[in-house]
Amino acid sequence: MKLTYYGHSCFLVELGGKKILFDPFITPNELAKEININTIEADFILISHGHVDHTADCIAIANRTRAQVVCNWEISEWLNKQGVQNTHAMNIGGKWNFDFGTVRCINAVHSSSLPDGTYGGNPMGFLLTSPGKSFYYSGDTALTMDMQLINRWTQIDFAILPIGDNFTMDYADAIEAAHMLNATSVLGVHYDTFPPIKINHHQVKQSFATEGITLHLPKIGESIDF
Ligand code: NI
Ligand code: MN
Repeated sequence: MKLTYYGHSCFLVELGGKKILFDPFITPNELAKEININTIEADFILISHGHVDHTADCIAIANRTRAQVVCNWEISEWLNKQGVQNTHAMNIGGKWNFDFGTVRCINAVHSSSLPDGTYGGNPMGFLLTSPGKSFYYSGDTALTMDMQLINRWTQIDFAILPIGDNFTMDYADAIEAAHMLNATSVLGVHYDTFPPIKINHHQVKQSFATEGITLHLPKIGESIDF
């Protein structure tokens, strides 16, 4: 399965013939200025929570591609008011079968206001299962014991976890999360974008390797195969 990293917590996966974009935050990201959002194709956009560093380019990309936006009820209502009608509202604990696979909404320990201050509902992560690949994207969250539930439902192929600290768990807690998930392959996200979340790549990669986990930190715009 091909995954393309667009910086911060934004990535695109190609699964079951569909392109699924997560948490688009590209145009305000200094580190991602080489990426032109008008070249990104998407059939679905999954939004973990309302914060601007996860939603900034959602409306522009949804309007151009007509992708369906999958998010919580409150963000769905907000998008509808901004003119994005093609949404699928969900909430924590629920799952839905899309044509690329099943999305289950997982609780995240974080917050979720929208860029204009509107209440953004609860933050979520996503467990995506499909006949091809299955993975868990935690969204912005602290380490939580609830992550142990995921391996009871699904043996995932890899996890996408924040590692930058300050706003989310740090890399040491992400290692704990990977153990709970029984994951040996992790894509690190939510690091380096802002001064408080800058990391030492070499040290962090070493720490994962010591625990028998491969940490992937692709360059912005780079595609990797899971
Ligand atoms: Ni956030
Ligand atoms: Mn964030």
